[in-house]
Amino acid sequence: METLIINGGNALRGSVEINGAKNAAVAILPAAVLASNQKCIIDNIPDIEDVHCLERILAGLGCTVNKINNNTLEIDATDITTVNACTEDVRRMRASYYFIGSLLARFKKARVELPGGCPIGVRPIDQHIKGFEALGAKVTIEHGAVSVEADELHGASIFFDVVSVGATINVMIAATMAEGTTTLENVAKEPHVVDVANFLNTMGADIKGAGTDVIRIKGVESLTGCNYSVIPDQIEAGTFMIAAAATKGDVTITNVIPKHLESISAKLIEVGAIVEEGDDSIRVTVDKPLKGVNVKTAPYPGFPTDVQQPMSTLLSITEGRSLIVESIWENRHKHTDELKKMGAVIKVEGRTAIIDGVESLTGCRVRATDLRAGAAMVIAGLIANGETEIVDIEHIDRGYPHIENKFRALGADIRREDR
Ligand code: EPZ
Repeated sequence: METLIINGGNALRGSVEINGAKNAAVAILPAAVLASNQKCIIDNIPDIEDVHCLERILAGLGCTVNKINNNTLEIDATDITTVNACTEDVRRMRASYYFIGSLLARFKKARVELPGGCPIGVRPIDQHIKGFEALGAKVTIEHGAVSVEADELHGASIFFDVVSVGATINVMIAATMAEGTTTLENVAKEPHVVDVANFLNTMGADIKGAGTDVIRIKGVESLTGCNYSVIPDQIEAGTFMIAAAATKGDVTITNVIPKHLESISAKLIEVGAIVEEGDDSIRVTVDKPLKGVNVKTAPYPGFPTDVQQPMSTLLSITEGRSLIVESIWENRHKHTDELKKMGAVIKVEGRTAIIDGVESLTGCRVRATDLRAGAAMVIAGLIANGETEIVDIEHIDRGYPHIENKFRALGADIRREDR
């Protein structure tokens, strides 16, 4: 079993380059099946397990997937042979549900097994289904798979009941070639939603308003392949910013869009860290004791739920009491049990974690209970006294490219071992 072994105590110093955004890439790859001619060449793709999973799913559908290098994929979806995506890879990950939207848009039918993903709460897809039905598709769920079918798709006005990244992207993809205009309201505004819209527009779609509350999509006849580069990962960047503050280091995080990181920067400044923005970099340093703060997660531009767990590690060693209210997922404090093994003082009441800062954490064997929980445990290991062993790290590999190499380059004592 692979584990991460960390000997804590080193302040992180130096510079780290952020990879392409996982949650943009995992939607852009399924959307590549929309191209009925010409290849898509997609750059700045993170080298993570979720992407490898999608490569296998694309190949299973009949796409030719050519890895130009670790971060660039060429996808030829011209000769797709099946609209059935029912494999272990599809079941394992969340983003496989974007194949429902993309296959529906191009072939007017699809059968896709229900998606998996991090165990962070109930993860319904009712808003995706509501959108597909409004576009004219018949949707059935049988034997653990979603089947969609339509004679033709037509534009519609859809008001989402909840702000959902997945539903916004999936229905936007499905509507690209629907007859007429589709209006999506109460949509997610995350940077990756905008990135997917930009990718679709580069393929020839007509999408306006991504990043605002209303997205308008004028259906086009067909989409073609294109060259595209994925935006930098807001969450990976936030994780390194928090790690820099937690270890009282001095880290410059490069290849970022500082605007996407404003809510994280603001919280770190409130904690007492120094955050300096460059054009495409952010430097985080610490010159005084850090203090507890309150955090409430919210859809973009609010504080991202995906950075909440790493933030809880930082707040476990800041002075005084902090509250973290998780307003997106009902079960995203599970990792606090692992932090408690390391000496953190945390009480969870419903969606709120009450954290009383302690002087230091101590290393021990802990689990990565999900992807971002894994990042939280890595940061905990970096600041703890002694050795921390993290198990179940396949969760971390799903979303963080080469995490141990990046932290080691910043001076951390971290290695991967088969134990
Ligand atoms: C995306 O998940 C991300 N995953 C998640 O990141 C992230 O936590 C989440 O957005 C919120 O930012 C991917 O992009 C692959 P949602 P998604 O639909 O799309 C409710 C990570 O760590 N909802 O925005 O599945 C839902 O229960 C992962 O990288 C419905 O009620 O999230 C939740 O409370 C974990 N019905 C809220 O909306 C629906 O049909 C937001 O979910 C869909 C969602």
